[in-house]
Amino acid sequence: MKEITVLGIESSCDETAVAILCAPASTGARKVPTLLSSVISTQIALHRQHGGVVPELASRNHSVDLPRVIREACRQAGIEPGQADAYAATSGPGLVAALLVGNTTAKALALTTGKPFIAVNHLEGHMLSPFITSDEGIIPHLALVVSGGHTLYIDVQSFGNYRLLGRSLDDAAGEAFDKVGKMLGLPYPGGPEIDKLAAQGDSGAFNLPRALLKDPGMNVSFSGLKTAVLYTLPKLTPSGNPADLPEQTLCDLCASFQQAVIDTLITKALRGLRSTGHQSLALSGGVSCNQALRNQLQATCNLHGIRLILPSPAFTTDNAAMIAFAGLHHALHGHHHPLDCDVDPNLKLTDESNRSKQDKYIGNH
Ligand code: KG4
Ligand code: ZN
Repeated sequence: MKEITVLGIESSCDETAVAILCAPASTGARKVPTLLSSVISTQIALHRQHGGVVPELASRNHSVDLPRVIREACRQAGIEPGQADAYAATSGPGLVAALLVGNTTAKALALTTGKPFIAVNHLEGHMLSPFITSDEGIIPHLALVVSGGHTLYIDVQSFGNYRLLGRSLDDAAGEAFDKVGKMLGLPYPGGPEIDKLAAQGDSGAFNLPRALLKDPGMNVSFSGLKTAVLYTLPKLTPSGNPADLPEQTLCDLCASFQQAVIDTLITKALRGLRSTGHQSLALSGGVSCNQALRNQLQATCNLHGIRLILPSPAFTTDNAAMIAFAGLHHALHGHHHPLDCDVDPNLKLTDESNRSKQDKYIGNH
């Protein structure tokens, strides 16, 4: 069977990543694609010194690091950079100068080889990542994308056929984890740190708000929860300094905050499953690493006879395997992009042009 090899590049934020994927060159083939390599070079240690991502440092480091990461991904895959059949890169959303590095590099490879360039939406990459290792293709499902910048509920009928059901009205789930982590004096990014501390804490210790749960719509909000943690802090230590919190209190606060996020995400997921009739739920994005979220979502799905599709941990936070995988599907559908297309820091995954009408329709304000 004829095969297609896609080289994918991810550079939207603070990970420089390249992956090479090989698959049958036909949409009907149900063979799991072969991931020949997936190399991630993270800049987290660099940005941690600044308490968050510094956009200029991110793009400069992508520029310095990307050639080495491409060479390493090609070495592991046993191909030369010019031997792929298509070159895919994240074109948004993300930091504009960071996106440009990966995008321009993929375009240069496409230009010199005469092979197609494919612009990939980072969110589509995350959303399809649970299917990288599946031999069933992309089945109809409810997608819950929980990343650092987005919280989205999407009705997925098939590849390219997406309908937005709900999203965060303010902070994304990952953003809330990171901001609360910063408030509590934890290193960037806060999500994995809170995950670890919460495992030692009592999730019922603090009564924190779960916004919009009674609202019939599918939107979520986490900024009130974040503010509630901010107001709780001075009540627990006279100095207001998180470093003065007893270890157990810190763990309890992390567990209570995390549980409020999980309760919100799960309640709305069940609502989305009911309203769409989907029997499958796919979780993705950096927050899908969270162990308590995975465990509780699995237990809920078991209870309701829903199939939960989780990405491998390696495909949860930013990686290029998901970009190569989405790029592969675009290539199989004949979607190529011109070399003069631009990156878009605010790229959307679904049509939100009727946002206000839709918000009204799904019951939010
Ligand atoms: O998907 P991702 O790598 O980047 C974006 O596209 O935004 O997600 C990064 C986010 C960060 O906010 C990080 O704190 C969060 O994912 N995260 C976690 C965990 N691991 C990463 N949040 C909660 N628990 C975790 N174990
Ligand atoms: Zn991401």
